[in-house]
Amino acid sequence: MRAFGAHLNLAVVMGPALLMVLACPMAVAREEDICRLFSNNTVIRDPDSCSQYITCIDSVSIYGSCSGTTPFFDKDTGKCVKKLTDDTSCYVSCVNATSQFVADPKSCYGYYYCLDQETPMFGTCPQDTHFNATTQTCTRLYESDCTASDFEYCNIVKNKVNFDNLQSCASYHVCEKNLLKTKTCSSQYYQASTGVCVAKSLVDCVAHPLPSNVCGKATKPYENKFVSDGATCRGYFFCAKQSNGTPDPNPTWNQCPQDTFFDASTETCRSPNLVKCTEDRCDGRSLPFVISSTKGCRNYLRCIDGVAFDEQSCGNLFFDEAKGGCVSSVVSYAIC
Ligand SMILES: *[C@@H]1O[C@H](CO)[C@@H](O)[C@H](O)[C@H]1NC(C)=O
Ligand SMILES: *[C@@H]1O[C@H](CO)[C@@H](O)[C@H](O)[C@H]1NC(C)=O
Ligand SMILES: *[C@@H]1O[C@H](CO)[C@@H](O)[C@H](O)[C@H]1NC(C)=O
Repeated sequence: MRAFGAHLNLAVVMGPALLMVLACPMAVAREEDICRLFSNNTVIRDPDSCSQYITCIDSVSIYGSCSGTTPFFDKDTGKCVKKLTDDTSCYVSCVNATSQFVADPKSCYGYYYCLDQETPMFGTCPQDTHFNATTQTCTRLYESDCTASDFEYCNIVKNKVNFDNLQSCASYHVCEKNLLKTKTCSSQYYQASTGVCVAKSLVDCVAHPLPSNVCGKATKPYENKFVSDGATCRGYFFCAKQSNGTPDPNPTWNQCPQDTFFDASTETCRSPNLVKCTEDRCDGRSLPFVISSTKGCRNYLRCIDGVAFDEQSCGNLFFDEAKGGCVSSVVSYAIC
């Protein structure tokens, strides 16, 4: 076998040892795990390798490898295949390269060992090294002029699988016929962990989309006015007066202090139970149980970490927020 450079981890030099490397693929530390975008148990191709796949479990990447006579991962069928139908971004050839190492088109640290003219076997260089096809070695980063190419989502994600785009709480991506589309949840937020649109309160997201006409219409723009953010009970936008008389295209977002809600009618932060707001009433509250805005003041919300867990009823009794329990005496709050 060809001498593989001194820098290379010895494990990849020997055939059987190479298989061990493949059976236990290196989990490449990404700055942020790509699985934060995908719902539980989604399987995608590794953006860094046409021979690895990733199963997203609870937003964490679990790597798997294709090897032997089926070295490539087909993102559409979820199977390891001998050859990809469309290998434009994954083309690897072992023709005339038996027992040689060829570069991985998807990453600087990956390579293929050609078992014969038809069978490339994927392997990775040790941490902090890049593969160099000329020298047939893994070399230190400073010796490498390889730069990793960008990937396209629709090359690694199956069609019709929703995934988060991190751009706005309400929008997400989906590949249709291998073209990336952006979709928007109507009046809800996109939840990456489940891949569907859900009530806004269930999604921990700060990229609140600007409500349409948040600063008024062109015919009647708001000037130096505080308005609700339309997503949370505490959040508001400040619409600054524009010199050209148009609505503020970029209002600044802020939120009321802990245990207060934004009241649009007075443009102030007030006690939550004076403010009619149907978004999550647990947001920013220090109480474990808060009164629900449901009519009659008999219902309350159970809050966990500032998010409503569920709504409970006192039945024929009333919920007393100060006491944190159900009472028989009539209780009334402005909101219910
Ligand atoms: C995600 O999937 C894994 C494996 O199927 C399962 O064990 C786990 O409970 C799931 N997580 C959630 C939040 O459902
Ligand atoms: C492989 O080698 C043969 C014989 O040397 C040569 O004719 C052919 O062009 C080579 N193929 C490639 C793809 O390099
Ligand atoms: C591979 O090594 C050769 C010889 O050291 C060098 O000239 C070349 O730039 C290297 N290629 C890459 C992609 O780093």
